[in-house]
Amino acid sequence: MKRDFLAIADYSSEEIQDLLDLAVTLKKEHQAGGNKPYLQGKVLAMIFQKPSLRTRVSFDMAMRHVGGDALYLSPNEIGLGKRESVADIARVLEGYVDAIMARVFDHEHVCELARWANVPVINGLSDYNHPCQAMADALTIYEKFGSLKGLNVSFVGDGNNVAVSLMHVSAKLGANFSIASPKGYELPENAVQIAKDIASKTGSKLTFVNDIHEAVKGAHVIYTDTWVSMGQEEEKALREKAFDGYQVNDQLLTEADPDVIVMHCLPAHRGQEITDEVADGPHSMLFPQAHNRLHAQKAILVRLFGKG
Ligand code: CP
Ligand code: NVA
Repeated sequence: MKRDFLAIADYSSEEIQDLLDLAVTLKKEHQAGGNKPYLQGKVLAMIFQKPSLRTRVSFDMAMRHVGGDALYLSPNEIGLGKRESVADIARVLEGYVDAIMARVFDHEHVCELARWANVPVINGLSDYNHPCQAMADALTIYEKFGSLKGLNVSFVGDGNNVAVSLMHVSAKLGANFSIASPKGYELPENAVQIAKDIASKTGSKLTFVNDIHEAVKGAHVIYTDTWVSMGQEEEKALREKAFDGYQVNDQLLTEADPDVIVMHCLPAHRGQEITDEVADGPHSMLFPQAHNRLHAQKAILVRLFGKG
């Protein structure tokens, strides 16, 4: 049966660890001169309803590195759910390509694509979650600390798509997860419930607060993201007011573990959720983390295509 990659919660802790180990192997192989052509002749269709730098380029390059190819379908091109139904698009594309990656607004749309297409579907970000980002983040933390078990991962800011997947991957791998969000911008209740269920099996501790100082105490990882996600542009003024003070700066880092690493999925809004000093400072993992998208996603692609 075909498998999709729609959410961290759909994968067991062992499967996630296996993907991370494969990512490490594929990264080393690539750095030692190039990957084997695991996906020779295979083509990934990439559907985008929103802009992208990292997701678009890293998926495209990941496919090229393993002998495959990718084709980009822009927001206006196919009109997902507008020009044509999601179900029809899925059933047309499955006859042309070997897998589909989609970046959507409505999470249900990527799930619907997966239900209708008989080829693997990968979630390249929805309004609900961002599982490929979380795999690259987990890979980055794994490389730095050797294990996520017992680490303190702290998120400062919006309970958004990136926070949901980071919480789930942390819980799956036994890291403690804390988040500080302003009132009214906390994580969705269903995502919290899923995390609690996972944490009850892995022993990770979950903390939900409004106070950023409480969230980052003893943190090994401090993570932040934009205050205004794609699709929320009309709320910009309101959000900038609500998130005032939810900033990762040098002062905040002094409250964390001395070896803390700072992460951000990017794009960053320097001077808002993160300062230049931190983004470009000695604790920053922003660019290694972005580069790890390539390796984490290559592992996902190779596993989904059933090779490697
Ligand atoms: N982090 C991330 O997904 O970046 P893009 O929006 O540029 O793909
Ligand atoms: N939360 C951000 C992540 C961008 C990669 C957004 O959805 O716009």
